[in-house]
Amino acid sequence: MVLIGLPLFVSAGRDRDCLQAGDTCSSDDGCSPRLRTLRQCVAGDGSVKLGPGARNQCENAVTALLSSPLHGCQCKRGMKREKNCLSIYWSLHQSVLHGLSLVESYPYEPEERGFDYVRLAYMAAGEYEVGITTLNRCLDAAKACNVDETCQKLRTEYVSACIQPSARSGPCNRARCNKALRKFFDRVPPDYTHQLLFCPCTDMACAERRRQTIIPACSYEDQDKPNCLAALRICRNDYVCRSRWAQFQYDCQPSEHVASGCKQDNYAVCLLAYTGLIGSTITPNYLDNSTSNVGPWCSCSASGNHREQCDDFLEYFHDNICLSE
Ligand SMILES: *[C@@H]1O[C@H](CO)[C@@H](O)[C@H](O)[C@H]1NC(C)=O
Repeated sequence: MVLIGLPLFVSAGRDRDCLQAGDTCSSDDGCSPRLRTLRQCVAGDGSVKLGPGARNQCENAVTALLSSPLHGCQCKRGMKREKNCLSIYWSLHQSVLHGLSLVESYPYEPEERGFDYVRLAYMAAGEYEVGITTLNRCLDAAKACNVDETCQKLRTEYVSACIQPSARSGPCNRARCNKALRKFFDRVPPDYTHQLLFCPCTDMACAERRRQTIIPACSYEDQDKPNCLAALRICRNDYVCRSRWAQFQYDCQPSEHVASGCKQDNYAVCLLAYTGLIGSTITPNYLDNSTSNVGPWCSCSASGNHREQCDDFLEYFHDNICLSE
């Protein structure tokens, strides 16, 4: 398929925010009833079987909305009313229902915040600094975070949320911990978060510290490992998680034909999409303290005849050349 979606998004203007586009549509007599129809069509994730008449109506609504401001709208990660925005985005993109395939697209607007690409590149190359013998770069990253007010504040917030025992939910309150983690990774500039989470390690102490960054005892590990497809199903039922996963698939799509290993050839956005999954039902983390392998806390054993589909999901983390480069 031709990527005709891209130039459209690059020139994205003000109306590209789905909340604003939704408002514009709602105040338009032609657009408004169609959006309402579409929302009814996609209610229940397409699980409700539509009769031929309703199906036809849904298809007409989609076709009409393709030439409205809703077409091509996106959301900002961590924005106010993110879930509402994403629900508008997905109402048009649940194309399974209408069989109309929209151009390849992704839910989040490209990050406009300044990125310290140079520093990130240095870090990735592992030549961040040379000096005293074995430096623990993860420790350095933690120190850097402490100097930045937002980073320090939100890090303290998630750490305390993730280590606080709770009367009702045992050693920690996972939901609260995850919420605080999402806030940290959505609001703190990636310069800091990426330094913390992707610091290069050559020894176990460093790798262990890196693995502990997200307080895995609360945010990640569990008594049992659920099946990955079951975890993904829960994720897809939540607009935010579904969007983070879609964005991750898009930005971290591996390719052997690009030197970076990433089809989008942008390693920094892949890392950003990765951190977008932290605090969700498919939170990824380092699997141990002797490698840089990452993955969500789930398994593909007992997948029955969905084994292949499940392995494909895990491979997006385990064997993804874009992510591991
Ligand atoms: C690395 O992980 C192993 C297994 O979980 C653990 O026993 C060991 O203490 C860890 N090493 C460090 C340096 O934390």
